[in-house]
Amino acid sequence: MSASKPVRRITIADIARMYEAGERFATITAYDYPTARIVDEAGIPLILVGDSLGMVMLGYDTTVRVNISEMLHHTRAVARGARHSMVVGDMPFLSYGVSTEESVEHAGRFLSEAYAQAVKIEGGVRSARTIEAIVSSGIPVMGHIGLTPQAVNQLGGHRVQGKTRESARKLIADALAVQEAGAFAVVLELVPSELARAITERLSIPTIGIGAGPYTSAEIQVVTDVIGLTQGFTPRHARRFGEVGEAISAAVMAYRDAVTAGDFPAEAESSSMEQGVLDEVLGRGELDRAYETMSIPLDRDL
Ligand code: KIV
Repeated sequence: MSASKPVRRITIADIARMYEAGERFATITAYDYPTARIVDEAGIPLILVGDSLGMVMLGYDTTVRVNISEMLHHTRAVARGARHSMVVGDMPFLSYGVSTEESVEHAGRFLSEAYAQAVKIEGGVRSARTIEAIVSSGIPVMGHIGLTPQAVNQLGGHRVQGKTRESARKLIADALAVQEAGAFAVVLELVPSELARAITERLSIPTIGIGAGPYTSAEIQVVTDVIGLTQGFTPRHARRFGEVGEAISAAVMAYRDAVTAGDFPAEAESSSMEQGVLDEVLGRGELDRAYETMSIPLDRDL
């Protein structure tokens, strides 16, 4: 009997190597076991269990409503499905940044309870100390600057960040602060392409863009946008590479129609038992069965 070959998990050292070799790579979010398996088998090196979970999977109106239990639950499912890809758990609103001790403890839960290999934290200069503390305790951190959806109430909506002199300078400072704090990569969300390029050129860690143009070191997208499962609003930066929503809808309708038409389940999709066993259970004799075969009701007066 041949044991299946062990698969080596991607680490932050592999991410650094790809970056140094100038290899641009695709990363994506996932929230469940089957999707994680598909993404892993597609050779995506890094899966983010984003707190976008709240909006695209749980039906909340904002990521602010997602809590740590929900994030750990979904991160565990993704970690079970991903054998090769590195799994990054997104720390939800207020699970970090309130106190350093609590931030480190919560980050640790993503590794010890949910089997992630790293965590992601939103915020540049404002989160630098937290990133430093988490990294110091041996937990790799991915930063996230630009549009940080957990701060949407402060930013005044989901809009492109860094378009003015002041906000562009602030974003460059944020990127440098995240790098200085020890993050192994940084997400740039909704940043003008030119600024994303300038930030990428100034850093020595990979930038992972979403709505940040083509000049970042890598890209990240929300999986439901990529596969065509997002209903309603799709952001400008997303491209549908498939129509999974339509495929699900067609399959569910075909199933419904087959059941109502009596085509499903068929003999091949059913199992049978020995006739004698059933006769005994039902107390039927040969004559009763003969009547049944002839479709003559047993209670009919002949
Ligand atoms: O939660 C998420 O999916 C994210 C990505 C958009 C980077 O933070």
